[in-house]
Amino acid sequence: MQDIGVTVRPEGAPMYQQIFDQIASRIRTGAFPEGYRLPPTRALASELGTHRNTVVRAYAELEAAGFLSSTVGRGTFVKAWRGEAASVDTPTERALPWSSLLSEAARSEPIRRFLRYRRAPGPRDVIDLTKMQPPEELLPLELYRRCLDHVLRGSADKVLGYAPKDGFRSLRARVVEDLARRGVPAPVEDVLITTGSQQGLDLIARALLDPGDVVITHASTYAGALQVFAASRAHVVGVPNDGEGPDLDALRRLGARRPKVLYLMPNHANPTGACMSRARRSAVLAWARDAQVAVIEDDYAADLELENAPLPPALRALDPDVLHVGTFSKRLIPALRIGYVVAPPSLKPHLVALKHTTDLGCSAINQLALAEFLDRGYLVAHLNRIQPAYRARRDALLTELRARLPAEITWQRPTRGLSLWLELPDHVDPERVLEEGKRRKVLVAPGHHYAADDATHPGVRLNFCWEPEDRLREGAVRIAAAIEAAMGGDRSGPVVDMV
Ligand SMILES: Cc1ncc(COP(=O)(O)O)c(C=O)c1O
Repeated sequence: MQDIGVTVRPEGAPMYQQIFDQIASRIRTGAFPEGYRLPPTRALASELGTHRNTVVRAYAELEAAGFLSSTVGRGTFVKAWRGEAASVDTPTERALPWSSLLSEAARSEPIRRFLRYRRAPGPRDVIDLTKMQPPEELLPLELYRRCLDHVLRGSADKVLGYAPKDGFRSLRARVVEDLARRGVPAPVEDVLITTGSQQGLDLIARALLDPGDVVITHASTYAGALQVFAASRAHVVGVPNDGEGPDLDALRRLGARRPKVLYLMPNHANPTGACMSRARRSAVLAWARDAQVAVIEDDYAADLELENAPLPPALRALDPDVLHVGTFSKRLIPALRIGYVVAPPSLKPHLVALKHTTDLGCSAINQLALAEFLDRGYLVAHLNRIQPAYRARRDALLTELRARLPAEITWQRPTRGLSLWLELPDHVDPERVLEEGKRRKVLVAPGHHYAADDATHPGVRLNFCWEPEDRLREGAVRIAAAIEAAMGGDRSGPVVDMV
């Protein structure tokens, strides 16, 4: 018999799968070309010391997958599965003036800002305080794998087909329960599953905004929202915060400009970490109702509680017209790309129609796996694991910053979320801090990135989720040196050139 080089390990994956994988890989690499005749099942089984049925099953699955064909009496053969590679010469002459064809939206300042700040991943020894996502060790890989395995045993047309336009009802029902846990009322009919909360913001903007419409945001606000509003050609104006939230007098003055949308992060604003008081929430909503302004509440940092600090009620709990936007990216798994919008019944169909124009719905498999994850109570268990870890990371950063930073630099100790905002004195340029930080192999996010308009006074955002505690402590040492250098003080210290 020909030796086809298949080896199986008794302790590995089931034997028929090992045979499947090895034969499929030889076909892919061309070792078994089109028309190649595989050994009879009985012969291969005896060579591998396994039961003939195991080899029959592997061949049957390879045939079902389209790799093989078998004819009774003749044998099992490799099927044709790829043609000759087409010629792929790239034409060199480019005639279209792409930059002058760009839309106004693509040329707008927040979108260009995004292009300016896009950066390659730094080398390993660069301490990254810009990433706002769970590190590998705090991702629930095993729990999610179990849920994926479970849903993959369900009916293929459901798991691998297109999903309902507003998301699977099973997931929407779990989202409703999850929102109820946090005091956010939402009938299941009002919930729309989106591709991350970023898409939720985009759909709302596209549903409500025309070019020139005025949007009010926190003076320092989420850069991704600024980009969304820029893409709608809206005009963004920042409202300054006092200790309780958006300044009411400033809001009233802005009312004269007939704003259409007010975008807020009431629990932990990105980037400043500010949390709105209960009284201010009510007052802002009363103003918005009076001024007929649509309010977006972005609760991206939900469940990232670092202490038992009580939260005031959600805006959506105070006013059913509030558009509540949430996500599973920060507290669970960014790669799910699953977020949601809770929208009033008369608006939701418009959001669904706009979503359909963009992506024809979210991934079915991820939605079903997430619904399973929530149903099994894994989210709450996962939070029990990550909350103390993030608290320890925050404390490591804060302790070292407290010891190192000059007295002029101030900050609020974050009680939730994943970021810390450093206020800088007027004469310190955050871009300079970024540059000095890079020279010392630490990355931070300068506040211009988040500035709603030119009136905003920027600071620097430090995220404490990505790096472990020892690197956060070292990051604090480096950033303190960078700030001192940016303030015109001591320029010595651990300066290194970043590639
Ligand atoms: C305030 C805020 N909202 C929304 C998002 C969008 O996240 P995702 O699309 O992953 O849900 C982010 C991401 O960083 C964010 O910081």
